[in-house]
Order: sequence, then structure tokens, then C-alpha cells
Amino acid sequence: MNIEVHDYIKNLNENEKKILIIDDYKILLVNHNGKIYAIDATCTHEDESLEDGYIDDECIECPKHGAKFELKTGEVRSLPAFKPLKTYEIVLENGKYFLRI
Ligand code: FES
Repeated sequence: MNIEVHDYIKNLNENEKKILIIDDYKILLVNHNGKIYAIDATCTHEDESLEDGYIDDECIECPKHGAKFELKTGEVRSLPAFKPLKTYEIVLENGKYFLRI
């Protein structure tokens, strides 16, 4: 399913984050140095929101216990989380951005 997110992405300034809630999905859009990523917004360790997570070196760090996840792949880079975050593809179609979920 493709969800149009064009306006959200266009209004996301460099190094800003925004939570999107779409049906049962809670997705974090991240503009990291001009690159846009879409990942699950909830840490896989103890369900902390990543909205206030620290972004550095292409990773997001959970504010609760410090687990780190790669923004691009969702892979765990640092414990205590073991399970990766789901990531979502952003596609450009006819000049508009869509999130593929
Ligand atoms: S809740 Fe995220 S690292 Fe523990």
C-alpha cells in the first residue's frame, strides 16, 4: 500500500523528525543531513518512543536505554535491543513522495 506523504516530507527540515500514525502503524520520518528515512517509531527493546531519539552517524539512539538502530536498514547497532526496527521505502511517483507500507 502506498500512502502519500509528500507534504510531510517537503516540510521536514534537515535533522528534524516527525511521527506519522497511519492505521496501526506508527512511523518516524527522519531528515538526516538531507536524506529522508522512514522507520518504526517504537523501540524494540521496551517500546519507548523514538521521537526524542538522538540521531548520529546514520543511526537513531533510543532515549531510554541507548539502543542504536541503523536508519537505513533498522538493524541493531548497539544493545540492549536485539530485534531490528522495520524500515519503509519512500518512493517518488509523478513528482510526489509516497511511503510504501
Ligand atoms: S526501550 Fe529502547 S533501549 Fe530500552
